[in-house]
Amino acid sequence: MLKPLLRLGVNIDHVATLRNARGGSHPAPLRAAELAIAAGADGITMHLREDRRHIRDADMAAVRAAIRVPLNFEMAATDEMVRIAIETQPNACCLVPEKRTEVTTEGGLDVAGQHATLRLAVASLKAAGIRVSLFIDPDVAQLRAAADIGADIVELHTGAYAHGKDGELARLLSAAAQANLLGLEVHAGHGLTYDNVGPVAAIPEVMELNIGHFLIGEAVFVGLEAAIRRMRGLMDTARG
Ligand code: PXP
Repeated sequence: MLKPLLRLGVNIDHVATLRNARGGSHPAPLRAAELAIAAGADGITMHLREDRRHIRDADMAAVRAAIRVPLNFEMAATDEMVRIAIETQPNACCLVPEKRTEVTTEGGLDVAGQHATLRLAVASLKAAGIRVSLFIDPDVAQLRAAADIGADIVELHTGAYAHGKDGELARLLSAAAQANLLGLEVHAGHGLTYDNVGPVAAIPEVMELNIGHFLIGEAVFVGLEAAIRRMRGLMDTARG
């Protein structure tokens, strides 16, 4: 199979985490978005959490107004977030499960178990011209449910793979192939680093990776542009 170009979406949430640690305006997520694009990011990803622990409404609006590459708005499927997304008009929304007590998005959505709520959110976003992605574990039942409720994209949660769980790469490979057969565009993300990105980047059906925490952490040592360029290089090499 010919491997199409693999896009890199840079998640800038943790620039806001650092900014919020002191309550001022530095470092600004918008500046990080602009640098990321200059370094080769194909898109910017931001998660507006219900508790606003990192990205805030004003960050989302500022980045939306300033960038020309696609904006991917990660959000819970709540009425509030659907309303903000429709106002913001990102290129895509990625619906994720959200728990106040979690440190990060620990698992994928239970699409099969939350059919009615998710179907409604997907329909409202699509009616506003926004592509919709569902963040799910690499599981066939979830893929089928995602296709059934009208999602355009699935983002496969790579957290278990990143933690080195046995058999996870095989699950990702098979889920990506299955998603493709169901007509879903395939993205992947969570916990990806220089060391583990290669095998995921090499999955032919995967068209976009969303990477955040590692890149922002690495930026402390080498700068954001260098970190992104190195990640981009590793993705391109793995892609062949
Ligand atoms: N994709 C989604 C849907 C996410 O929620 C996140 C952040 O939790 C990421 C990608 C990026 O994960 P990380 O920050 O571990 O690279």
